[in-house]
Amino acid sequence: MYKNIVDFIHQLYQTDEFVPLHAPLFIGNEKKYMNECIDTTFVSSVGKFVDRFEEMVAAYTGAKKAVVCVSGTNALHMAMMLVGVQRDDEVLTQALTFIATCNAISYIGAHPVFIDVDRNTMGLSPDAMKAWLVKNAEIKNDQCYNKRTGRRVKACVPMHTFGHPTKLDELVALCHEYHLELVEDAAESMGSFYKGRHTGTFGRVSAISFNGNKTITTGGGGMLLFQDEELGNLAKHLTTQAKVPHRWDFVHDQIGYNYRMPNINAALGCAQMENLERYVENKRATANEYNNFFADIPNIDFFTEPIECRSNYWLNVVLLQDRHSQQDFLAFTNDHGVMTRPVWQLMNKLDMFKHCETDGLVNTCWLEERVVNIPSSARLKV
Ligand SMILES: Cc1ncc(COP(=O)(O)O)c(C=O)c1O
Repeated sequence: MYKNIVDFIHQLYQTDEFVPLHAPLFIGNEKKYMNECIDTTFVSSVGKFVDRFEEMVAAYTGAKKAVVCVSGTNALHMAMMLVGVQRDDEVLTQALTFIATCNAISYIGAHPVFIDVDRNTMGLSPDAMKAWLVKNAEIKNDQCYNKRTGRRVKACVPMHTFGHPTKLDELVALCHEYHLELVEDAAESMGSFYKGRHTGTFGRVSAISFNGNKTITTGGGGMLLFQDEELGNLAKHLTTQAKVPHRWDFVHDQIGYNYRMPNINAALGCAQMENLERYVENKRATANEYNNFFADIPNIDFFTEPIECRSNYWLNVVLLQDRHSQQDFLAFTNDHGVMTRPVWQLMNKLDMFKHCETDGLVNTCWLEERVVNIPSSARLKV
């Protein structure tokens, strides 16, 4: 039934073999820079690539400061701490996300509250968030509280799902009105812009991931983005064990974290950054091919970038008619050498977060039954 789709994808990737969802691609200076680390022995916490990688990401995104981390997950953990989320606070986020968003909230001992997403972005819905806040929030001494639980609502963490920017202007305004800190989970959206500005530069702090399945990779890694340079400097201090700079003394002025990315991973990052635009342009061309192809396929819709956005199309999405056709599509494609995947199990359905408050999640559940990710690797040749 879906044979024409499987054939098209094999043709697109010019192979008869298994087509993965997203494979990393190394077409530039990766080996050269990594060899440089090995030759100089600077593979770990000392070396020039860490600073260079941070500078490259800051310049590309327009962030005032970028601070590398070992992973996107600990970048998010650090972000929660930096904006002052504390034990027993509540954090508004989406149930349609990867577990790391909620894990980071949980590391602090805070509680996620799951707000619905929009169907045309798959990201946190400002309308749904406004409705929840109007019903549940009260402001006391410039702090937002959940009237029902009595807990402080400290932050809001939207996620740019599969690389598509969510409605940032509206979320920024809401966070301002309700005294909430905005932390963007931009793990998936390196190379995605909202109204001409890079995702991750709207929140007080944002986190990017460079895991192996992302648009560009450092093997494993993450990055914090800041518009507030001072906060960025504090992040640098905390992610490097809070060591007071000194040539030989080891003095630490607070509890710090070993969250610093090793130089050898940053070397990979520098080489990948040099080709980021080529990757994104190529992925966008793939999305365009999918869009044209699916226009002629009945009952399957290809998901396109939200208006006024330039998406990196990290993972392409098709929407099936219902749960039944979604499951059929997943079975057929995976049986015929094309890797496809549904969305992550919704966070509010996982044992750890079952008890968390939700707003009903109407669009989230609608998308859960229909979304399928299809192969999305860049198709550039080595
Ligand atoms: C939405 C989201 N948040 C956070 C992360 C965590 O990033 P990492 O795997 O680098 O820890 C990922 C991806 O892995 C992600 O997709």
